[in-house]
Amino acid sequence: MASFSLLSTTLALLLLLFLGTSSAQLSTSFYSNSCPNLFTTVKSTVNSAIQNERRMGASLLRLFFHDCFVNGCDGSLLLDDTSNFIGEKNAAPNRNSARGFNVVDNIKSNVEKVCPGVVSCADILAITARDSVVILGGPSWNVKLGRRDARTASQAAANNSIPPPTSSLSNLISSFSAQGLSAREMVALSGSHTIGQARCTNFRNRIYNENNIDSSFASTRKGNCPRASGSGDNNLAPLDLQTPTAFDNNYYKNLVNRRGLLHSDQQLFNGGSTDSQVRTYSNNPSTFNSDFVAAMIKMGDIKPLTGSNGEIRKNCRRRN
Ligand code: HEM
Ligand SMILES: *[C@@H]1O[C@H](CO)[C@@H](O)[C@H](O)[C@H]1NC(C)=O
Repeated sequence: MASFSLLSTTLALLLLLFLGTSSAQLSTSFYSNSCPNLFTTVKSTVNSAIQNERRMGASLLRLFFHDCFVNGCDGSLLLDDTSNFIGEKNAAPNRNSARGFNVVDNIKSNVEKVCPGVVSCADILAITARDSVVILGGPSWNVKLGRRDARTASQAAANNSIPPPTSSLSNLISSFSAQGLSAREMVALSGSHTIGQARCTNFRNRIYNENNIDSSFASTRKGNCPRASGSGDNNLAPLDLQTPTAFDNNYYKNLVNRRGLLHSDQQLFNGGSTDSQVRTYSNNPSTFNSDFVAAMIKMGDIKPLTGSNGEIRKNCRRRN
């Protein structure tokens, strides 16, 4: 009898320990009672933003990546700078580049109308990223939820954790590995560059000075990206030259044809360890889609604030 109760006490303690340490207590049904209209509310706002400007789907997807890679998916990216607070919006990877914050504000205010004070900005970014991919023709998935919003942000971490477009393959692998993501997941998530635009300043060196680039592609891009640094820095070019507003596997086909826009893009197909995976995705959209979905869910699990940590912000731009 005594040994039986000792055993059950031990089991109960082990269970508690397991629950307490299991990484993320996120769940797809987190708001099903507290905000049953959440998904329809978010989707209709994302949809009208994308109908208004097709590129917005790309911009919104990128916000989730830039949030998750900086101390976890905690909405820290959305906090505005103030006179006594330095946020992440002016960090090197975001300044003059990250966009869509007004759309996030619209989504948040529509969600506040149906369920005030319930849904975090971090979760809104996660749902918005999924909806953007779906609206542009990509795969769907069930989004895990229950993240809470940070009361802090880190410009230094944003500068250091989001890889720059000058990265080598080994730099890319190590920056994703620092977030618990494998090289395979890095290559799958990079398929996000099948949508959206980049600025001349981020691909100038590649189109003028690199050799692993299709020459007619390079000359097309030179047309709107002058050689001299400082001129036309913000001129845009599509990351996927064929279908920049359709979520498909053309990104990988471009890489195989040496038409990656960023130096970092072409690193994934440049005679190294990830070539075969790029080739597989270029021939097999369903393999890409399922790997992309699994990797997005994993990225969404990076260090969420849960339980009584953080807060549910009322306005995504500032702490309560
Ligand atoms: C693998 C490392 C990555 C690097 C080095 C990288 C770098 C970049 C750069 C330099 C731009 C253009 C920014 C500008 O010129 O203003 C960009 C755009 C974009 N990135 Fe990435 N990125 C990476 C991974 C990702 C991931 C994992 C996602 C999403 C899950 C993503 C989504 C996007 C999207 C959608 C755009 C276009 C945004 C728009 O048009 O507003 N990127 N990225
Ligand atoms: C982050 O990078 C920007 C742009 O290079 C720089 O102005 C800023 O001082 C950096 N911030 C920190 C905290 O290192």
